[in-house]
Amino acid sequence: MSVEEMWRDLAPVGRFEATGGYRRYSYGAAELECRAWFAEAAAARGLSLDADANGNLWAWWGDPAAGDAVVTGSHLDSVPDGGAFDGPLGVVSAFAAVDLLRARGFKPAKPIGVAAFVEEEGARFGLACLGSRLLTGAIDPAKARALSDGDGVTVAEAMASAGLDPALIGRDQSRLDRIGVYVELHIEQGRAQVDMDAPVAVGSAIWPHGRWRFDFDGEANHAGTTRIEDRVDPMLTYANTVLAARKKAKLAGALATVGKVICEPNGTNAIPSRVRAWIDARAAAEDTLASVLAGLEQATHERASRDGTTVTVTRESYTGEVAFDLAMRGRLAGALKERGFGEVPVLATGAGHDAGVLASSVPTAMLFVRNPTGVSHAPGEFAEMADCLRGAEALAGVLEDLAR
Ligand code: GLV
Ligand code: MN
Ligand code: MN
Repeated sequence: MSVEEMWRDLAPVGRFEATGGYRRYSYGAAELECRAWFAEAAAARGLSLDADANGNLWAWWGDPAAGDAVVTGSHLDSVPDGGAFDGPLGVVSAFAAVDLLRARGFKPAKPIGVAAFVEEEGARFGLACLGSRLLTGAIDPAKARALSDGDGVTVAEAMASAGLDPALIGRDQSRLDRIGVYVELHIEQGRAQVDMDAPVAVGSAIWPHGRWRFDFDGEANHAGTTRIEDRVDPMLTYANTVLAARKKAKLAGALATVGKVICEPNGTNAIPSRVRAWIDARAAAEDTLASVLAGLEQATHERASRDGTTVTVTRESYTGEVAFDLAMRGRLAGALKERGFGEVPVLATGAGHDAGVLASSVPTAMLFVRNPTGVSHAPGEFAEMADCLRGAEALAGVLEDLAR
């Protein structure tokens, strides 16, 4: 199973023809197919497959019970109409790196693991990095079980239908105790590496980021007969909030996005009763992010009092600033330099990753592979095969250095 074969096998899974994007939602048919692909990739290499109680998949070269394992990987789920590389590049590269090391006759002194974390994007159940949060205990298991998708199916139900026992989810101390380090390779989600002409980079930090749900409640009524002065229209409060989010983020040098909105009852000729929108906000510093949100909440409540609507704000997820382990960063840079990669750039990112969640429990590092379009979370996401192979080489070099 070469790199090309791995990509060929994954390419049609969950691809939505109309847009060319991927819809691989946790425990849905396409994602289950990706999980089967993972099991095949492990079996083809004689790696032992180990599905944990939290829905994450692991494939082991060596016995994980030996401890101090060197783990690499990423995720296989996608955002709605996501690109082909966000997630799968890290998993394909992990298997490719194992192949490269074996072809060189490398005999690891420590177990090497390939991992695929479930629900990294939070596209189905709303909470990003659910699998790694469960593994590390960053989310209460009861709260996780109760999370539900757009159809009201809970995590517990989805896990049960995939043959997993939701009663067993939660912090997995014995597994964490066996992991020495985690290195995640990921496609770059911007254009920094294009500008630097760098196929490979090392991660330094992840911006603080979170998701806030805004529920705007008003009064449903007739579009043709309700006088303007009688309306209690949550759409107005919502619209104003979107503009305010953009303005406040821009002024603070932060980012705020409304990418998901639900209008009820969603009729053309009726004032809505409710608009529900999610604000994804990120900033380089936690206090900046907090002040953007505080300013936005104030603005939205002021607007709501003018519109006669009510607004309820719920923080659905939050990840504080993550600075990757400095010693690991140095180790990666050194290993890459020794192997002819030169001085690789070191980059911070505004994107969230399981590596950021795992960083609370194990020394963690990231590698990025150049993305010539700079586009991500969209079908235009891309990486040249030559860069993917360079990334796999870099990862192999790093694993060799860490597992010797
Ligand atoms: C995950 O990719 C995120 O940053 O939302
Ligand atoms: Mn992503
Ligand atoms: Mn990702």
